[in-house]
Amino acid sequence: MLLYNRAEEASSKHWTLSRMFRNLLIVFMFVYITSIYTAQKDVYKYKPIYPHWKKKQPAFACGVTVQNDPIIKVNNLKTFMVGSYIEHRKEVKMIRTITIMFRSENAEYHCLLCCNGLNVSVPATRDIHSDHFGFEYGTAYVTCKVPETCTKPTHVAITSRSPEEDGSLQDIQAFQPVRNQEEKKDFPYDFTVCISVMYDYDNVLELVQAMEMFKILGVQKVAIYKTNCTSDTQKVLDYYVRQNFVEIIPWNLTPHNITVSRGWKKSDSPGELHYFGQIPALNDCVYRYMYQSRYVALQNLEELILPMKSKNWPELLPELERQYGQMGSFEFENHYFPLSIKDSSAKYSPDSWKKVRGVNILEHITRISNDPNQFNNIKVIVNPRLVFKATVHGIFPSINGSVRVDPGIARMYNMRSIPNEIVAKRFQIRDPHLRDYAESLIPVVSKVLEEALGDY
Ligand SMILES: *[C@@H]1O[C@H](CO)[C@@H](O)[C@H](O)[C@H]1NC(C)=O
Ligand SMILES: *[C@@H]1O[C@H](CO)[C@@H](O)[C@H](O)[C@H]1NC(C)=O
Ligand SMILES: *[C@@H]1O[C@H](CO)[C@@H](O)[C@H](O)[C@H]1NC(C)=O
Ligand SMILES: *[C@@H]1O[C@H](CO)[C@@H](O)[C@H](O)[C@H]1NC(C)=O
Repeated sequence: MLLYNRAEEASSKHWTLSRMFRNLLIVFMFVYITSIYTAQKDVYKYKPIYPHWKKKQPAFACGVTVQNDPIIKVNNLKTFMVGSYIEHRKEVKMIRTITIMFRSENAEYHCLLCCNGLNVSVPATRDIHSDHFGFEYGTAYVTCKVPETCTKPTHVAITSRSPEEDGSLQDIQAFQPVRNQEEKKDFPYDFTVCISVMYDYDNVLELVQAMEMFKILGVQKVAIYKTNCTSDTQKVLDYYVRQNFVEIIPWNLTPHNITVSRGWKKSDSPGELHYFGQIPALNDCVYRYMYQSRYVALQNLEELILPMKSKNWPELLPELERQYGQMGSFEFENHYFPLSIKDSSAKYSPDSWKKVRGVNILEHITRISNDPNQFNNIKVIVNPRLVFKATVHGIFPSINGSVRVDPGIARMYNMRSIPNEIVAKRFQIRDPHLRDYAESLIPVVSKVLEEALGDY
């Protein structure tokens, strides 16, 4: 009896305990699942690590091939699509396609949209940029309104009417994804550099130095519009692409029968499009990074925008905004450091770099004075959301405008060959500011050369 009672007591105790345990478990599981859900929601909401278009695109949209990269020819016209983006800053939702266009060609443009699996054709207007430098081809925007019935315009192609009697719309070669679907307020990057255009590039040492200087200055992404380069350059690019630091945008105009000029003056550098197509590439970069980067710098690889008082761009930009306000663009004055004037000391020219092709920027610490009577080159750091059109040296009037930054706060260091007769006419000024970064720069450059080039 006693035994039974004990057993009964024990079993009832056991029962109570297990019920308590079960209830606790339920509460625990509830809290756990809720917390996972909230955490994931936070991840989706605040950390858009991969922009939407990096998810694998379907190869077809509305039954037509999708091509992610530039360039897509518009049938029947000398117009080439570079990139398409939703424009959120106008009263109505629009799609803007950046194109390279034969300027004298006149056509009736349309956007063919792929909306929820259905083709929708809407009329489009064109706007040729004024900075074509007299070349036959120039940058143009082709813009159309998104019809209200089209809730998700995922892809677009530009079409025109056939000149033949029936006036029907021409067929298309491929659809292009429409980027910037969402008007984001948080960006994965603070600073992106746009490099346009890389061609015949073999300056390996300077490329690595530039990339590592960008990192030291606080840049998180570099977009390079690339035509062609040497195999060692390609190894370095591959290295940075693997790191997710560089995005390569293929830039091949030759297959499309556009002969690019190697300069800006048609009489000196023949061709049909200004300087390898630099202007359409820069405009594409501003739109491509509009909702991915807080600021975008439009510059070349041999140019470095250095703060004079602060260390890096995350310190410089707040300083500029305090001083000048929230501008569309900050312009940095160019200063040339001629490659012909060299200061090599063992400290700044490690032996292991000597086998690598290219300029060592740390050896150039003499700048020449600017000519006050001539146009001085500038390059810009922009807030891409305040910009509509970019050009070689700066931007066209934007929301909140542009300001020339006092060179005492920041300026551009430009290492390049300068004709001797120009060097002779200017003052020479010793300016070793770049070497202030040498201690951080030298070891990382050596490391990257070894990792990227291997047994070079
Ligand atoms: C959309 O239009 C293109 C070009 O005219 C055509 O090739 C394709 O079959 C159309 N797709 C659909 C789903 O109608
Ligand atoms: C690289 O591209 C440029 C521009 O299209 C062209 O002029 C040059 O010949 C190309 N170089 C090589 C090695 O293909
Ligand atoms: C290439 O462009 C040139 C100059 O615009 C033109 O004369 C030629 O017919 C074009 N060739 C092809 C194959 O389109
Ligand atoms: C334009 O500048 C003013 C003053 O600095 C600032 O308050 C405003 O937010 C800026 N506009 C935009 C769109 O950033």
